[in-house]
Amino acid sequence: MASYDLLGNIAIVKFKPGTIQNKKKRFAQQLLRQNTLVTTVLEKTSRFKGRLRTLKTRWLAGERTTEAVYRENNCTFLFDVDTCYFSPRLASERKEIAQMVRKGESVLVMCGGVAPFAIVIAKNSNVERAASIELGRECSKYALENVKRNKLKDKVEILQGDVRKKVPYLKERFDRIVMARPNLKDDFLDVAFKKIKKEGIIHYYGFYNEELIKNLRELIERRAREAKKKIRIIKIKKAGDIGVRQYRYRADIKVMN
Ligand SMILES: C[S@@+](CC[C@H](N)C(=O)[O-])C[C@H]1O[C@@H](n2cnc3c(N)ncnc32)[C@H](O)[C@@H]1O
Repeated sequence: MASYDLLGNIAIVKFKPGTIQNKKKRFAQQLLRQNTLVTTVLEKTSRFKGRLRTLKTRWLAGERTTEAVYRENNCTFLFDVDTCYFSPRLASERKEIAQMVRKGESVLVMCGGVAPFAIVIAKNSNVERAASIELGRECSKYALENVKRNKLKDKVEILQGDVRKKVPYLKERFDRIVMARPNLKDDFLDVAFKKIKKEGIIHYYGFYNEELIKNLRELIERRAREAKKKIRIIKIKKAGDIGVRQYRYRADIKVMN
C-alpha cells in the first residue's frame, strides 16, 4: 500500500494511487506508534521537481512541522523537507566516498544540498578542506547551520550559487570533486575538468536506464576529449534505483593530466 523514508523525526510516505484518506491516516498513526523516534508523518504529494529538486508534502499525523533532524555517519543534519533535497538512501554512498579520501586532500562537492557529502567526508576522513556549492538559498542556510552543528567550521566551506557560474571563478583546483548532481540536463563535466588537479578523482553521478549505460561512458569520454584530459574510468557502479530499470550510477574517474 505504501513505502516510506525515515528522516529522523519525520517519516515521508508515498501511497499507491487511489489510497483513501482514512487508510492514509491509519497508516500514519501506526507509523507513529511503531517508531518512537518519528514524531511527524507527512505524505509525499509530488516527485522531486525543478532545479532545486524539491518535493511537496502534506501533513498526516503528529507534530505539524517540515523541519527534520536526521543523523547518519556520525553527523547531524537539520533541514526543511519541503525546501531542501535530502536523500537518506545516499548515506552509504557518502560513507564510501569518505573512506576513499586521503589525508590532506581538498574536496569540492557540486550541487551539495544541505552539505551531507562535505560534512560526512570532513567528519570521517583526514580531508584538509571540503567546499560544498549549492544553488538553493534556503538549502545553503541549512548547510551553514549543519557545518556549525557538526563543529566543522575550520574544515567545511559553504558556497551559495550556480555551479556553472561560480565554480569557474574559484582560484584553486581540487584533489577530488563529488558531482552529486540532480537528474537534469546539465552534466557540469566541463566545469569539473577545469577544476580537478592532475591525478585527481571525479565522482560523477548520472541517471540511466540499465540498457543505456554505455551512454554514460561515452558522455564522460567525450567531455574529457573536449577538455583535452586523459582519463581512466576506474569504476561505474549502481548507486540506487530511481524507477523501473532506471538507476543512479556513480562513475569514478581518474584524471591523469
Ligand atoms: C540531487 S540533489 C543533491 C543534494 C545533496 N548533494 C545530497 O546528497 O543531499 C541536487 C542539488 O543540486 C542543486 N542544484 C541544481 N542545479 C544546481 C546548480 N546549477 N548549481 C548548484 N546547485 C544546483 C539542487 O538545488 C539540489 O539541492
